[in-house]
Amino acid sequence: MIRLVAGNWKMNGSLVANRVLLDQLEASPGVEVAVCVPYPYLAQLQQRPGGLALGAQDVSEYAAGAYTGEVSASMLAEFGCRYVIVGHSERRALFGEQDVTVGRKARAALAAGVVPIVCVGETLAERDAGRVMAVIGRQLAAVLEVLGVAAMASVVLAYEPVWAIGSGSSASAEQVAEVHGGIRAWLVAHGVEAESVRILYGGSVKPGNAREIFAVADVDGGLIGGASLVAVDFMAICGAA
Ligand code: G3P
Repeated sequence: MIRLVAGNWKMNGSLVANRVLLDQLEASPGVEVAVCVPYPYLAQLQQRPGGLALGAQDVSEYAAGAYTGEVSASMLAEFGCRYVIVGHSERRALFGEQDVTVGRKARAALAAGVVPIVCVGETLAERDAGRVMAVIGRQLAAVLEVLGVAAMASVVLAYEPVWAIGSGSSASAEQVAEVHGGIRAWLVAHGVEAESVRILYGGSVKPGNAREIFAVADVDGGLIGGASLVAVDFMAICGAA
């Protein structure tokens, strides 16, 4: 399957800074490249380098109606979003997003033809307690429960260990291999067509560690935070994929 490298700009950018960044981005042969930008910039990103896919960072679980402040999946589709991140650990930790809500958001995205990038991952305390796959299994099960087995094969998964996000040090190749293999096995055990699910790694991916991470079995791309804001770094990471 073709690898996906998605940049998660988080709450960064400005009209001017985005233009400077975009002018330095280009398609990367053999790898799908996407940028997931704050909602207000979806309009600006209608003009972007060819071959660069567009995504958002969140979506409403609801289709339309009296939900002040929410943005629906069909709105994202109208702006040409191919992807939307759901269940990022920052949304779970800072905005109280529950496992079941993540599942509903993924369902709303799929219904509008937008592919959800479903984030899962453990905190350091959960890792230290030996609960890595228990936590990830719980997060995945909630999504599977809402989507069903067939639709589950249409999502992209992103393993983002909370402790590696923005920390400057990624998970080791061994840790990534263990969890990505564990996720693939979990999907198989639950009847999901696991081979068609791309599993991205996210958490302090940089030009210096990207090649090693992308060489790990069951790593089908990356979800890149800080480094996606630096064109030369993001392009180097895409090149490594
Ligand atoms: O979604 C990407 C992310 O949370 C990783 O961020 O800055 O560690 O690459 P960063």
